[in-house]
Amino acid sequence: MQSSRETWLVDVAATPVAVRVLPPGPMEVAVSGPAVSTPAPEEDAPASPDPMISLKDVRKVYRLRGGAQVRALDGLSLDVAPGTIHGIVGTSGAGKSTLVRCLTSLERPTQGRIRVAGQDMTSLSARQLREARRRIGMVFQHANLLDQRTTAQNIAYPLALAGVPRGQRRQTVERMLELVGLADRGASYPAQLSGGQKQRVGIARALADDPSVLLCDEPTSALDPETTRSILDLIRDVRDALGLTVIIITHEMSVVRQVCDAVSLLEAGRVVEGGRLEDVVLDTSSRLSREVVPLPAVPEAARSQGDAVLDVCVTAHPGEPAAVALMSMVAELGGDIASGVFETVGAAQIGRLAVTVPATQASRCVTALRQAGITAEVRA
Ligand SMILES: Nc1ncnc2c1ncn2[C@@H]1O[C@H](COP(=O)(O)OP(=O)(O)OP(=O)(O)O)[C@@H](O)[C@H]1O
Ligand SMILES: [Mg+2]
Repeated sequence: MQSSRETWLVDVAATPVAVRVLPPGPMEVAVSGPAVSTPAPEEDAPASPDPMISLKDVRKVYRLRGGAQVRALDGLSLDVAPGTIHGIVGTSGAGKSTLVRCLTSLERPTQGRIRVAGQDMTSLSARQLREARRRIGMVFQHANLLDQRTTAQNIAYPLALAGVPRGQRRQTVERMLELVGLADRGASYPAQLSGGQKQRVGIARALADDPSVLLCDEPTSALDPETTRSILDLIRDVRDALGLTVIIITHEMSVVRQVCDAVSLLEAGRVVEGGRLEDVVLDTSSRLSREVVPLPAVPEAARSQGDAVLDVCVTAHPGEPAAVALMSMVAELGGDIASGVFETVGAAQIGRLAVTVPATQASRCVTALRQAGITAEVRA
């Protein structure tokens, strides 16, 4: 047994393996096989377009009674590319809602610059600000519909406030109802709608005035998983149909996985990690990577006495299966997969496996896996 494992270790180190895998650290390396679709280096990439939303060194200080200060935003910088769905995650109190309020100028930042669709939101007059706000649709956790008004009247409400003529309002409402899949429910009252349908109405209302940006603050937190999925599909569909730029504030990593193109981690009022979702997840040294696709838990019962647990990360792309190759390596090693997850993120399949091996072999196995280009470390 020992000798066959040693043979395997030598083999793995010496033999090209037909998987695309990650070494420790942020750099991707393809160990063998055809050229892989590693993102092109900057020099070949087309110049990125101007961001639709740009925050530079934004600070927001709240002054409490008694003189104490709360630094809700503390030098936050963030760019959101046009047409992307950008997730913002962070623990409670990190400043997510303050960020949304500053973006819509419901709050003025204490310092810093905020641009939305090319406009400097911090230098607008009250009238210009009202106009600029019409370019930003808002969706909240609860749709907050007016109970005494029908679905159609709820959607028409912001248009009426903005002075849109009645005939045009009716046309827009019909279009919006169609867009969110509620064409036959215009006459229903909120009490006659499910939670997911109410949120659809909330989205229709946010989109009625033809915004270029949609800000969603915990849009699915009050919904069950299936309804969440359908609302996220809707958000992606309307982004595709209308070319919107979307920010989704969420504490649900499944939301980030399902719908976001990019993600930023907010902590104590600033962005501490972020980037394109696929890049973030591939950088297994990042906290976001482990939050978006967490390491699997290993129940005590799945671990024999004297076993160590190795955290192993693999990445595959269409046509480059990695999971099967890794599983056969683990089998050769005499180890076992105690638990694991595979998630599709963009075009990549991300696998996180907890592999159990005899503790005496752990560091040698890690070395061998790393030599084969696989991210592996002994779990503390
Ligand atoms: N109006 C206010 N006056 C004083 N402090 C405030 C005010 N609004 C927010 N804060 C403080 O600013 C910090 C950030 O709050 P914020 O509501 O932006 O957090 P959050 O990330 O949205 O949290 P959650 O996930 O719980 O919604 C917190 O410490 C909060 O107490
Ligand atoms: Mg909040």
